[in-house]
Amino acid sequence: MKDLKDYVRTIPDFPEKGIMFRDITSVLQDPDGFHLAIETMQNMVADLDFDVVLGAESRGFIFSAPIAYNRGKALVPVRKKGKLPCETIEVEYDLEYGKAVLELHKDAIKPGQKVLLVDDLMATGGTIEAMIKLVEKLGGEVAGVAVLMELKGLNGRERIKNYRLDAAISYEGK
Ligand code: PRP
Ligand code: MG
Repeated sequence: MKDLKDYVRTIPDFPEKGIMFRDITSVLQDPDGFHLAIETMQNMVADLDFDVVLGAESRGFIFSAPIAYNRGKALVPVRKKGKLPCETIEVEYDLEYGKAVLELHKDAIKPGQKVLLVDDLMATGGTIEAMIKLVEKLGGEVAGVAVLMELKGLNGRERIKNYRLDAAISYEGK
């Protein structure tokens, strides 16, 4: 049987020289790969108690939706600025070059709700850290963070060391 990592395609020097791009499309386009990815992520958080799954636009949607559905929990999308129609809160976070903003509907999380954060990848941890801030601004409690892949060389874990993080696949480098 193939390992989950075997389904991830690595593209050297994309989007720029020196970056090893870890491509999730090769996981998704193989039914066995997609199935294994979701099963693995669900198993990682099987012991976690949560009310809401928070998925990060856009690649995080792919993994957050099946987990929420299978656990019978609510799914809340965190979106890039300007996409959500009702009243929102926002958090600015750093990109490699410049800044970006993530938004959440104010009524998406009730005070005291336990929230599982899901994304495809943790690199610098900037996206996850922004999601944590959004949840806590609304009085939610971060139950844990689940990602398909973690790039250990970027030390994202350091930024969120007070929170539980589970990664299905880890890469030592960047
Ligand atoms: C990528 C990836 C993660 C984030 C990880 O998203 O899907 O969400 O970067 O990087 P970080 O840990 O350094 O924050 P991107 O913002 O490229 O957008 P996308 O999901 O819409 O493709
Ligand atoms: Mg993303």
